[in-house]
Amino acid sequence: MIIRGINAWITGISLLFLFAILSLTAHAAGQDAGAGKDVFAKRCTGCHAPDSEKEGPRLRGVLGRKAGTVPGFQYSDGLRNSGIVWNESLLDKWLENPQALVKDNNMEFHVANAGEREALIAYLKSLAK
Ligand code: HEC
Repeated sequence: MIIRGINAWITGISLLFLFAILSLTAHAAGQDAGAGKDVFAKRCTGCHAPDSEKEGPRLRGVLGRKAGTVPGFQYSDGLRNSGIVWNESLLDKWLENPQALVKDNNMEFHVANAGEREALIAYLKSLAK
């Protein structure tokens, strides 16, 4: 009887832990996009906006988009002919060192901090088409 009680107790505690961890993970993902929005405002909005062209092209829906294809934007030949379709790992490389990914592109900017890149990509992902 006592043993069964302890078992139930342990199961209950494990379930609590499981829920705590699950909700923490969900929370962390949401937070990443939130943090990414702040990093975007600080580092990217000088040249980019989600829905309009500035010095750089609009970025809403960039995940899954072929590089260099926003109509009317004057891309470098390098990026337009890169054949890249943006996914998370290519965006990470691009943000870390654009020149290493695409020779002769026009984005004179990079983000050295891996955590910031991760948050930025989560934010870009949250910008639905
Ligand atoms: C100094 C201006 C500048 C800043 C700051 C800048 N970009 Fe760019 N970005 C550009 C330009 C210009 C291009 C087009 C490059 C080309 O044609 O080679 C570009 C292209 C891109 C592309 C490819 C888009 C496409 O349609 O293929 C992505 C993604 C991108 N930038 C993300 C970012 C993010 C995220 C930040 C902030 C960390 C950022 N950029 C900061 C100027 C900038």
